[in-house]
Amino acid sequence: MTLVVLAVALVGSACSSTDGEPGAQGLDDSFYPNMGNGGYDVLHYEIDLDIDPAANTIQALATVTSRATQDLSAFNLDLSGLTVAEVQVNGSDAEFSRSGTELVIEPASSLASDTEFSTSVSYSGSPEPVVDPGVPFGLGWHHSEDTIYTVSEPSGSMSWFPSNNHPTDKATFEIRITVPATSTAASNGVLVEEISANGYTTTTWRMDDPMASYLAAVYVGDFERIETRQPGSPLIRDYVPRNSPAEIVEALSITPQAISYFEDLLGPYPFDAYGTIVLPLELGFALENQTLSVHGRYTIDPMIIAHEIIHQWLGNSSTLDDWSETWLHEGFATYLSIMYMSEHHEWDLNEQTDEWHEYLTADGSIPPMEIENSEMFDVSVYLRGALTLHALRGLVGETVFSDILRTHYEQSANSNTNTAEFLAVVTQLAGAAAAELVESWLYDDPMPPL
Ligand code: ARG
Ligand code: ZN
Repeated sequence: MTLVVLAVALVGSACSSTDGEPGAQGLDDSFYPNMGNGGYDVLHYEIDLDIDPAANTIQALATVTSRATQDLSAFNLDLSGLTVAEVQVNGSDAEFSRSGTELVIEPASSLASDTEFSTSVSYSGSPEPVVDPGVPFGLGWHHSEDTIYTVSEPSGSMSWFPSNNHPTDKATFEIRITVPATSTAASNGVLVEEISANGYTTTTWRMDDPMASYLAAVYVGDFERIETRQPGSPLIRDYVPRNSPAEIVEALSITPQAISYFEDLLGPYPFDAYGTIVLPLELGFALENQTLSVHGRYTIDPMIIAHEIIHQWLGNSSTLDDWSETWLHEGFATYLSIMYMSEHHEWDLNEQTDEWHEYLTADGSIPPMEIENSEMFDVSVYLRGALTLHALRGLVGETVFSDILRTHYEQSANSNTNTAEFLAVVTQLAGAAAAELVESWLYDDPMPPL
């Protein structure tokens, strides 16, 4: 009897030592320590969404292909709200539980480090926006005036699909959306299939380049698709509310010219398609979803259109690795958009930068690298971030400045980056004094003079 118990205990402990450990429940982001999960790397998401736009409910299946980065006894996905019916890992039922926005999954047998595995989650319900300390409004899934739309930066994607919800874990995506045939659906990447049957339409969208979860997006409503194909330009497909005034379509027509301006500055457009979706409601901001930026009804303005286009390179392809460094997206997009405006829309770049400097001097500015979570989209991040680049350009001159931009982008394209890496590029191409200047703009109080 004692021997049998001992034998069982030995087998038990032998198993647990080779069975691995649970993956971490977060990735230690400075602002969002619990966002993302440890122990695996997602390669691909396949998300099937059956949407009832009138009821604002979904019936969904997400299949997540990952590679284990440690021996895993359990791991988490991030999911907020909704009801999970079933989880399978490699086709076998897995135990699961919910704790806040963590979906904790315990596969029937553990997963060896470096092996690929597939996790499928069946879930349903009415998605609710996520409360995020970084922005003063709910993020993720919204339903308004017969339109379903998502705006997810930074945390909102977990309101509609389970993910490793941190920008350092990019993956390819296939999103399949079924809606009543009277509605139009749109999502990221290329529309590869459209099937209509029995009063429903299913569209399949493929994003074959790595994408951060916060840039995934879904729209359902009464939209008109407008395609523009121009030699040397990616496929452009815009979505506007049906019967929109001509000015909206006209405003979007700068897209190919703006893309080609930024290709000259940074390198080839990073993705297979681009476009803007204009919502039939006011948003108060725009957002650079990968290949499908979203604008509210009244923000169709060339500078903002250009700003979201720049983010496709700087933000979406080259992506911050910690949410405390939003200036790497917003400062760059703000500065490059006024470069474009001064080249193509008769803006005076120096007048604009002087005006911003005066405004920030009068109103007080936060050094962009000293922000708190609630300040990640503060006006200082945009304007002082842009002035940082303007000051650098003034010091190093045109040629070295464009080398710096291009090298910074090339080194981090399709990947992640941070301020330290940008400073290393500045030091390498322009010397230590130039890097010190950038640092004083990013870290010092008071703000340096222009
Ligand atoms: N990245 C957006 C922009 O282009 C930020 C908009 C702020 N809202 C948000 N949900 N993150 O400026
Ligand atoms: Zn932006």
